[in-house]
This record gives sequence, C-alpha cells and structure tokens, in this order.
Amino acid sequence: MTSLSSRAGDAPADPAAALLSVRDLTVEYKTDAGLVAAVERLSFDVGERQTLAIVGESGSGKSAAAMALMGLLPASARVTGSIRFRGRELLGLPERELRAVRGRHIGIIFQDALAALNPMMTVGDQIAEAVTVHDPTLGRKELAARAADLLGLVGIPSPEKRLHEYPHEFSGGMRQRVMIAMGMANEPDILIADEPTTALDVTVQAQILEVLRRVQERTGTSVLLITHDLGVVAGVADRVMVMYSGRNLELGGAESVFYEPSHPYTRALLDALPRIDRRVPRLTQIPGQLPPPGQRPRGCPFQPRCPHARPALCGTESASPLRVSTLHTTSCVRAHEIEGELR
Ligand SMILES: Nc1ncnc2c1ncn2[C@@H]1O[C@H](COP(=O)(O)OP(=O)(O)O)[C@@H](O)[C@H]1O
Ligand SMILES: [Mg+2]
Repeated sequence: MTSLSSRAGDAPADPAAALLSVRDLTVEYKTDAGLVAAVERLSFDVGERQTLAIVGESGSGKSAAAMALMGLLPASARVTGSIRFRGRELLGLPERELRAVRGRHIGIIFQDALAALNPMMTVGDQIAEAVTVHDPTLGRKELAARAADLLGLVGIPSPEKRLHEYPHEFSGGMRQRVMIAMGMANEPDILIADEPTTALDVTVQAQILEVLRRVQERTGTSVLLITHDLGVVAGVADRVMVMYSGRNLELGGAESVFYEPSHPYTRALLDALPRIDRRVPRLTQIPGQLPPPGQRPRGCPFQPRCPHARPALCGTESASPLRVSTLHTTSCVRAHEIEGELR
C-alpha cells in the first residue's frame, strides 16, 4: 500500500474497456417508513472474460444490485445511476429492448434451482426452451444436441440420456449444474450468479464453483458472482467487491483484497473464515448487526461495529473511495493509519 492519499474516482478499472460499467447505482424501495436505499452509489466495472465477486453479509443489497442490473426489480423500487453494457445505457430502456439484451447477452443463475426449474418438464426440454427463445430457427434434433452439449459443458455425465429426465431425478448439485447450463444457453457475454452455491453442502459447493470456473474458461464469458461467503471467492474471482449496508467498502484484485485488506470490515470477514492453519483462534462472527437501510449511520456504515472507528473521522461522508493501489480502492478514511493492523 503506497499512495493512499490520492483519490481514485469511483471505479478503478478503465470504463471504456469494461463490458459492464456501473456508476452511482442506487436502488430505493418504497416502504411504510418512506424510501429506503438498499443500494447506495455503487460503482464498478466488469471486464471481458473477468470474474467479479460481490461479497457481503445477508441484507447488504447484493441481490437488489443484481436485480437492478437485470432490470428485474419490482415496481416499488426506484433505480438511479448508470448501467452501461458495452457502452449502451440500460437504465431507462423500454422493457422489450431490455428483455432482448438480458436474454441474449446476460445469463442468470439463481440460488434455488428447484424453485426455478419446472418439475413437469424434462431437463432437456427446459434447456431447449431457453435456447429457442433467442434462436427459434433450430429444429428438434439440433435443439437436443445443443442441450446435450450444454449439459456436457457443466460436467453432467451421459448428457444424452439425462436430457429425458425430470428435475427431481437430479441431485441438488446436478440441478444447479442444469441452472448453469440454462444460464449459458445463449452464450451470454456475462453470467450473473446470485448465491449459486448457498443452498448446497460444502463439497457440492466446491464442485459447482469448479464448474463455473471451467465454463468461464471454456466460453470466455464474464461472471458476476454474488455471495455472502468470502470463502467461496478464492480461486474463482479475479476481482472482489466487498459490500456492506448498500455500499461498496472495498474493491480490488482478489489477491490484494485477501492479502492486503484495506477496510476493517474485510478484515473481519477474513477473520471469520474457518482456517486450519490459524495459530491464534479468532472470532468467528462479527459482533453486532448490519444496520437496516433506513437506519444507516452517517459516514461509514460499518462504524458502529468497527474496532478502529473514530467518530470524528468515520462519521463524515467521504466523496469518493481512496486508492490503495492502481486497481484497489477502499472507503475507509483511516485505511493508511491502520494499515499495519489490517494485515
Ligand atoms: N421489496 C423490498 N421492499 C423493501 N425493502 C426490501 C425489498 N427487498 C429487499 N429489501 C431490503 O433491501 C436490503 C437489501 O436486500 P438484498 O438486496 O436482498 O440483500 P442481500 O442480497 O445482500 O442479502 C435489505 O435490508 C432488505 O430488507
Ligand atoms: Mg441476496
């Protein structure tokens, strides 16, 4: 960490080179208590062939951000800012055009494969349906071949045979592979995966992450991986954004965020990871709770739980993130002072 004092602007990567470029994304929900911001001024880029992981505790606004990217938020939500895909602004696009972009260029995988799949339809027919929506010219045979290819891509053995089976005949992990296959049906430029492994047990989680990594490698698609579990990110993500209470607290290359964390919240998340090589036992949970969107403190939202907080410094809003290194930013105003304690 060297030039912490210099201002980095809102996002570190070159927006012109980005596939997806998000600036000042704010998502507000209308509630009985008025408008509350689930996401506040979020800015980040996803490059070609890049995997960006968004990590944060449950309730930090990850899904709200993802739904905004896909234009799938309920009518009670208000979205402002900018979401550019290959330079084209998606915010405010008519639903019909947005649907075309979404289906053709953006693939989606949700957490709960069982709820997302139709129990009455064979897996092959469901994948074929996903392909047909954007390529109606394919015949039955071609569709079956394409569906089998997709099942092969996600590592399902004997794909030709399994096409004829129903979702309940697949295990949880195999169903999630089917979801990835469907997400990849139209060879999207970016695959958005919102907690794709959360419903699965640990060994199956690792397999699904490996499938995602392989799909990314083989197809060159970019991936936006959303998870509450920082442990899931290592070895999969190129870049990591740490979210808390609707805000981006830290954004950088996966290695530098892991080895040179620059926000006390990231440090706390790292400390909460189970590790066998740890000499000193650490806290496994961060004391305190995420503030609800309506009750976010001024300044740094992590401040009430932060062991390094200084109200005079941390209670004021900072205009833009601080640069840790070329492609690494933090929102912590004390980052350079406490650098030694965060490593
Ligand atoms: N439809 C809604 N109306 C009002 N508040 C909502 C709605 N959906 C989510 N929220 C609130 O927005 C915040 C962010 O939620 P969410 O994006 O689901 O977080 P995450 O995916 O990180 O767990 C939470 O405080 C949640 O309670
Ligand atoms: Mg979520």
